[in-house]
Amino acid sequence: MKNILIGVTGGIAAYKAIEVVNALRKKGHNVRVVMTKSAQEFIRPLTFQAISGNQVITNMFDADDSSHISHIELAKNADVFAIVPATANIIGKMASGIADDMLSTIAMVVRCPSVIAPAMNTLMYENRIVQENIGKLKSRGFTVLDTDSGLLACGDTGKGKLLPWETIVAEIERFL
Ligand SMILES: Cc1cc2nc3c(=O)[nH]c(=O)nc-3n(C[C@H](O)[C@H](O)[C@H](O)COP(=O)(O)O)c2cc1C
Repeated sequence: MKNILIGVTGGIAAYKAIEVVNALRKKGHNVRVVMTKSAQEFIRPLTFQAISGNQVITNMFDADDSSHISHIELAKNADVFAIVPATANIIGKMASGIADDMLSTIAMVVRCPSVIAPAMNTLMYENRIVQENIGKLKSRGFTVLDTDSGLLACGDTGKGKLLPWETIVAEIERFL
């Protein structure tokens, strides 16, 4: 059993992270989920709590919560860290060293293999700053996955679609 830390950010594809968490748990891993504030606009933490069997981390400053684990502990305990889906925003924050919420703070602490699965509109994905940020993360040792091409949730067609969850699980498992 390995400790897998999954960050979920605020994109339409957030629901696909449910399959990733479900598959990893069924394989016997301990999966902890960290959700950004925006991610919670798409999926409720309760869903990930039920699927992972663990309390979901949503708040940096929730000191009253007895199950609270510090961001440092979470990051240190992880065997693999993955962000599914990864918004342009989290990619930009990680590339710039910004730590203004729980997930971006954890991302700055982790030393384990890290898999970033981007998902966004084609125009966002092809934006040069986003591409530069992806390049920066790759050069720092992050495994930034490709995206699929196809019909996006917004109706556009092109790059930026999250890879199938099975592919993402396989990429995570490469590091276990
Ligand atoms: C309906 C809707 C869908 C969105 N989908 C995406 C997306 O797929 N990818 C992305 O990078 N941003 C998307 N966004 C924008 C992000 O939610 C926004 O940039 C947010 O600040 C991201 O915060 P986070 O990275 O902390 O989760 C979407 C916004 C809305 C309203």
